[in-house]
Amino acid sequence: MTEKTDVLVIGAGAAGMMCAIEAARRDRRVMIIDHAETPAEKIRISGGGRCNFTNLHTTPENFLSENPHFCKSALKRFTQHDFIKRVDARRIPWHEKTLGQLFCDNSAKDIIDMLLDDMRAAKAALFMETSVSGIEKNGDVFHVTTDRGVIECTSLVIATGGLSIPKIGATGFGYDVARQFGHDIIPTRAALVPLRFAQDILTKTKELSGLSVDPSAVSHGKTSFREGMLFTHKGISGPSILQISSYWQDGDDIVINMLPDVDIYEELRARRQSQAKQMLHNVLAGFIPKRLADQITGELGIDAPMADLSDKKLRTLADRVQAWHVTPTDSEGYRTAEVTRGGVDTRQLSSKTMESQKTPGLYFIGEVVDVTGWLGGYNFQWAWSSGWVAGQYA
Ligand code: FDA
Repeated sequence: MTEKTDVLVIGAGAAGMMCAIEAARRDRRVMIIDHAETPAEKIRISGGGRCNFTNLHTTPENFLSENPHFCKSALKRFTQHDFIKRVDARRIPWHEKTLGQLFCDNSAKDIIDMLLDDMRAAKAALFMETSVSGIEKNGDVFHVTTDRGVIECTSLVIATGGLSIPKIGATGFGYDVARQFGHDIIPTRAALVPLRFAQDILTKTKELSGLSVDPSAVSHGKTSFREGMLFTHKGISGPSILQISSYWQDGDDIVINMLPDVDIYEELRARRQSQAKQMLHNVLAGFIPKRLADQITGELGIDAPMADLSDKKLRTLADRVQAWHVTPTDSEGYRTAEVTRGGVDTRQLSSKTMESQKTPGLYFIGEVVDVTGWLGGYNFQWAWSSGWVAGQYA
């Protein structure tokens, strides 16, 4: 069986659905296919089930890419405010949690239902459990071989996302298609992901598992994030660590300040007089969680009455609390990563349309592209913006 359509979108996630809606609203015949059983599984599980659907403060600076200018055009043409207007028009209740992060009050299902209804209204046809086994292009027409038979289209949109969370359907399909049509791929790696420690560090920190230190300022080179941090039984996690993981590479160290608002060295020196008989771990517990104070003073072997502590010892302690240099061994990988860094090289795509500069009619949108947002709703905003843009041209 051969079906003909104007636009075929592969991948019914955030970017693919947005693109399908926009193209269908231009009266293009649109089909959208996905190999999973249900559409938008990542929206469903996002934001702890409440979908952090955008960020009020989205700017191009919140994204990582080999080509940092690429995302500017799409983010400007379909902004966070444009998406919020749609959410408001649909009367989906939302709230700002922190740092401009907008979440549904009820559930991520509200966003999915909005997208599905908009697709239905625009007459974009959705087919789930449909896999693709081959793509060819003859003249202006793509011939896409699927479980439903061959689908012929003049615009083919790849919206199959990145590699994170393979158990809900993530594949490297989009990268394979890009390579088939002569595109380069910026090497991919897990991002927004917990980091793991080697056994020697874990032996010291494992008793802290489950402890959150908020705020913590975590730095990698000149990049720093100040949010919560969480000790886990494998290493460290929490928002500031997930953020820095997108910048971190194997072998790099990160620097953690677990008390960013206080000069602990000066504070402890002052307390050497005022609390001379108090033990260091008790005094330190006035600034950081008690379990952490106990662990650090124990690890450094410098617990004693305050009066007995030299400046040098206080400096060693202050450095451990405020400039802890630690080298994670690796990350937890795609199994738990929120996103994939790297992807289709944007230097071979049009930033205005998302169309391939090598193969007219072929578009790449969303996470499959080498544009990776920070934690906090930025990745969905990229999906909406890039999907919207492609939908105006596909
Ligand atoms: P997405 O991955 O959403 O969709 C791709 C679709 O393609 C899927 O439906 C998949 O089944 C399909 N597909 C894949 N391979 C295929 C193939 N070979 N054939 C056919 N179909 C195929 N971001 C954010 O901004 N706020 C948040 O709150 C969160 N929270 C969050 C939590 C968790 C646990 C994760 C894993 C991720 C997030 N994210 C997030 C990131 C966000 O989910 C992600 O960046 C977007 O979903 C990317 O949208 P895309 O449409 O590009 O891909």
